[in-house]
Amino acid sequence: MARLTDRKTWKDLKAHAALPQARDIVNLFASDPQRAERYCLEAAGLFLDYSKNPVSDETLQLLLALAMDAGVSEQMQAMFDGRRINITENRPVLHIALRNQSERPIHVDGRDVMPDVRAILQRLGEFSESVRNGKLRGATGKAFTDAVNIGIGGSDLGPLTVCSALRPLAHGGPRVHFVSNVDGAHLAATLADLDPETTLFIVSSKTFTTQETMTNARSAREWLLTNLSGAESQNSVVGQHFAAASTNLNETAGFGISPERVFGFWDWVGGRYSLWSAIGLPIALAVGFEQFERLLAGAHAMDEHFLNAPPESNMPLLLALIGIWHANFLDLPTHAVLPYAQDLSWFPMHLQQLDMESNGKRIDRAGGTVEYTTGPIIWGAPGTNGQHAFFQHLHQGTQVTPCDFIVAAKSEWDMAEHHEILLANCIAQSEALLRGRAKEEVLEELHARGIDGQEAQRLAAHRSFPGNRPSNTILMERLDAHSVGALVALYEHKVFAQGAIWNINSFDQWGVELGKGLAKEVLNDLRAGRASPDHDQSTVAMINRICAIRGK
Ligand code: F6P
Repeated sequence: MARLTDRKTWKDLKAHAALPQARDIVNLFASDPQRAERYCLEAAGLFLDYSKNPVSDETLQLLLALAMDAGVSEQMQAMFDGRRINITENRPVLHIALRNQSERPIHVDGRDVMPDVRAILQRLGEFSESVRNGKLRGATGKAFTDAVNIGIGGSDLGPLTVCSALRPLAHGGPRVHFVSNVDGAHLAATLADLDPETTLFIVSSKTFTTQETMTNARSAREWLLTNLSGAESQNSVVGQHFAAASTNLNETAGFGISPERVFGFWDWVGGRYSLWSAIGLPIALAVGFEQFERLLAGAHAMDEHFLNAPPESNMPLLLALIGIWHANFLDLPTHAVLPYAQDLSWFPMHLQQLDMESNGKRIDRAGGTVEYTTGPIIWGAPGTNGQHAFFQHLHQGTQVTPCDFIVAAKSEWDMAEHHEILLANCIAQSEALLRGRAKEEVLEELHARGIDGQEAQRLAAHRSFPGNRPSNTILMERLDAHSVGALVALYEHKVFAQGAIWNINSFDQWGVELGKGLAKEVLNDLRAGRASPDHDQSTVAMINRICAIRGK
């Protein structure tokens, strides 16, 4: 098979990008009064306006031809069919099974996984409701008022993002806290406000061996045993105050967690795609199992859309192709995610893991080094706060950053006036990025204020904006469980389609392993009080300096 960059579809796009009008969005609107109506679509309760991007009908046709050429549809089908598309770990990739609400079976090695998925969901439902209604209690007989999720990466960010997004629905259950960082400050500060008698811990770890999570889990266990000593036997205390979400049932038992409090999942669920599995337990605890099911339904609706919608009106595919146009053909290396929703403040970070851990790859599926840009740098923060921090760069910086604005038309909070202001700012920012501000317009305004001549020219240069800066806007009626599910799944499939086109394996993460291994060696050195000579010079010096400061 020809390399991606040698293909006609790729070369056609390169030639198209070299045309002088390739970046002129304003002109695309001027020449097509129907553009706003045509360059938008709806799916799973989400509305996407992609008209403010430098793409014409011809650009879209070329991009769709690239997608077809790269076999995106076939790869998507392979994922939904349970084939082992994670080729470096020889695993299927089936987060879509976790939210499959159709009657369709999903087979792995000839066996339908859906009965197992449903069985765990039922147990999650029963457990979360028993904690919420106070039937399940701690070792001293008190109901749980607080639950602490201990996990990191996908075992933290997914449920944290959703719990935060659904904050207005969090009543009737325990307060849910998240501890991820091995920095003791995280656990200590969280425990400081908690009562051990009424605190439930959930250790969320696919492997149950992650250094940070296990360190936090052991310290939490010690805190519990120290503060509940005398209540009952140690085993019983741990058994009643700990639950786990993991694929490693041997390790959970070794930790002392009773089997009926362990919620399993499978190796075909990647960490960053796991919030739909038992890793979603904190969500069910916080907002109730019914809402968790609505979240799954929203994601399933997006799965069905991705699977069945034609390419030209397929929302995840279009987002993927526009992203590829920006990254590979217009050379725009970063992508900003700007939710105009305080409750989505963790969403940019969740997408950072989802996108950068999936597509931050430099080796293609055949084992060769890629010759093109793959996953962009994802960053962002909620609006309006970002406006007062980095938006200056978005409007006038030398690098152009494509942006995704995400906003709900209605608020979940009882502050109508605030929401109108929020919406106005969101809309205004994408408009300002598009149209910019011509120097003539600034000069006119300066003249009206009595500033003329050289001074007006000098100021006008600083005050004008180039415009033509691309953005998508994703609008939903409200930020509820269904739309949050659809939103997260939308980005999962966008990332999938991009990885398929770039011909990389989006489902492993070998790049994080080297640092993990070295950290163990450095830890041995820090404990011994001196660096082993196997490190590089700078590392030896740093370890020894730290040992000296610490008096080792
Ligand atoms: O950092 C790599 C990673 O494996 C992530 O992909 C994963 O979400 C995280 O670590 C946590 O892993 P685990 O759930 O096994 O503790």
